[in-house]
Amino acid sequence: MAHETVGKILYDYDQITARAKELAEEISKKYEGEELIVIGTLKGSVMWMSELLKYLTVDTAIDFIRASSYGSSTTSSGVVKISMDTEMNLYHKNVLVVEDIVDTGTTLTYLLKKLQDRNPKSLEVCTMLDKPSRRTTGFQADYIGFEVDDLFIIGFGLDFDQKFRNLPYISYLQD
Ligand code: IMP
Ligand code: MG
Repeated sequence: MAHETVGKILYDYDQITARAKELAEEISKKYEGEELIVIGTLKGSVMWMSELLKYLTVDTAIDFIRASSYGSSTTSSGVVKISMDTEMNLYHKNVLVVEDIVDTGTTLTYLLKKLQDRNPKSLEVCTMLDKPSRRTTGFQADYIGFEVDDLFIIGFGLDFDQKFRNLPYISYLQD
């Protein structure tokens, strides 16, 4: 992929923020009267997380976690580890993990197991993007921004080789 370029815009900023608002309203209803800890997965979820946060109306704390998988840059190898952990105690708390994209589902299957071990009161996942055609696990997110085809997605937090995260829209890599 020596000459990769940015493809068409799949979702622009207005579409992304409108969808974040819809999901945040649904999430706010579900946790009404309760507290929520939103955990962003670094680095990909930061832009989507900030959109969701703007529209959450419940008492919300934020934290971060980083899962890394060994292997090539465009697919996960199946070997996942937590390379940066949360700071907050999750015991008996409502936890919402915010992810950029669910591909094979390997990363979130691993992360959720690790987080479940801490005995949160509840544990749900909100992902900006879902690529169900690539799933090799039974993983299913509770809230999904948009479903995408089997493309290598970039922008709005998602990278290729650490590039393109800052694009203010969702696109894909084209060679
Ligand atoms: P999974 O473990 O296969 O579900 O992969 C999840 C992780 O792989 C995501 O959190 C992303 O960091 C990365 N990833 C998967 N698909 C894409 C993509 O299309 N573009 C950029 N990163 C991706
Ligand atoms: Mg990720």
